[in-house]
Amino acid sequence: MIARRLLALAATPVLAALLAGASQGGGAAPGAPTAGDPYFPQSGDGGYHVVHYRLDLGYAPASRRLDATAVLTSTATQKLSSFFLDLSGLTVSSVTVDGRKAAFSRSGVKLKVTPAHALPRGRSFSTVITYAGVPKDVTDPDGSADGWITQKDGSVFVAGEPQGAMTWFPSNSHPLDKSTYEIAVTVPDGWSAVSNGRLESQCASNGRTTFDWRETSPMAAYLATASIGKFQVQSYRTASGLPVYNAVDPAEAKAAAPVLAQIPAVVAWESTLFGRYPFDAAGAIVEHAHGVGYALETQTRPIYDRAPDIDTLVHETAHQWFGDSVSLDRWKDIWLNEGFATYAEWLWDAQHGGPGTAARLAADYALPATNDLWSFPAGDPGSAANIFGTPPYERGAMVLEKLRETVGDKAFFAILRTWAGERRYGHGDSAQFVALSEKISGERLDSLFATWLYGQGKPATP
Ligand code: TRP
Ligand code: ZN
Repeated sequence: MIARRLLALAATPVLAALLAGASQGGGAAPGAPTAGDPYFPQSGDGGYHVVHYRLDLGYAPASRRLDATAVLTSTATQKLSSFFLDLSGLTVSSVTVDGRKAAFSRSGVKLKVTPAHALPRGRSFSTVITYAGVPKDVTDPDGSADGWITQKDGSVFVAGEPQGAMTWFPSNSHPLDKSTYEIAVTVPDGWSAVSNGRLESQCASNGRTTFDWRETSPMAAYLATASIGKFQVQSYRTASGLPVYNAVDPAEAKAAAPVLAQIPAVVAWESTLFGRYPFDAAGAIVEHAHGVGYALETQTRPIYDRAPDIDTLVHETAHQWFGDSVSLDRWKDIWLNEGFATYAEWLWDAQHGGPGTAARLAADYALPATNDLWSFPAGDPGSAANIFGTPPYERGAMVLEKLRETVGDKAFFAILRTWAGERRYGHGDSAQFVALSEKISGERLDSLFATWLYGQGKPATP
């Protein structure tokens, strides 16, 4: 992990400067203030891995104020004299490491923590951060709002892709670092707080209710949520025993109901295509949110800014395999998330009265060379501002259809299942996906991927 981070860093002078002095051998050194991703150089931190987050959040919708404690159980991956966490805004009142007061300082979105004593490599340590304030979302390079997004009535839409986790909890906020979570949120009676995984308990006392959630599978920080609203809640088990928990804003309830009713069917259908569902819970958070404009595949429980249509539900559910269980290790590979989730929509539509996948590829290919679709390659967006542009989604799906037409259905679906199965709860990159495709199909596929995944502009022949 460290070697790969350093390798990536070497290529970028900005990051090399950030890293300077960070990992010389010998004695203790500060952890790097970055995970080394050129698209989001401020995200993530080197020198330690967070095994588990425990967040206690108290939220007052009237004042928008958050009062919080975060307990991070981490492992040092080098001898650490100090280390960084990602936190945007908010006021930190104290930090302890293994129960002893630690020095801390803020600079931009980095919180630097200096424990009383250096932490030996391999040491498990506990960091407790007490913080409070009115959280503010961040604006992404593409102009969209990200993180803790407060609505006029005090409800909150919480979606952290790609960098918004830092707006509500201190974290090692890059998908390279995956952790388990316990998130307990206290809100006034009448409000609900919905997070990832299973609801362990719901306790009311003194006019407030605490919702205590557990995500027991490794999760990237951007997939964490703690969304707050006056929701209508529905919970049940599917025929196979999977607990489903849906929280829906009443304004969207009527439109959402028939689509959410399909969750068990969509999970079952995708399980036959992609292999067993990776998590121990499912569901949806449906808000009536302004100024968002997207849904997010928050782990186990996608969040929608309005009642989703069935394709959006199919898309976010497919991300549970592609993106959530198998994660990116750099944002450049975003097509491994978005292309796969979009292709799931193609498959669903093909089986539900829509166009076939080959017709869909042909229709896309027929778009003129001036169309946005051809503006950059799916596998090389070029900058952070482009990761949610058309190519990673639509050209990403085209790559998969080309692959399927080349290797045949049997090998193609074996590739998808093996990818999701072998890398479950871990990571994968584009080169590894190409290698797996070649291994399973027994074919040389370099020119296919060179043209369809990495080629600039519209390929000369369909
Ligand atoms: N990953 C989301 C999806 O399912 C989209 C998304 C998340 C997004 N965050 C975003 C899009 C920020 C634009 C801007 O497709
Ligand atoms: Zn998506």
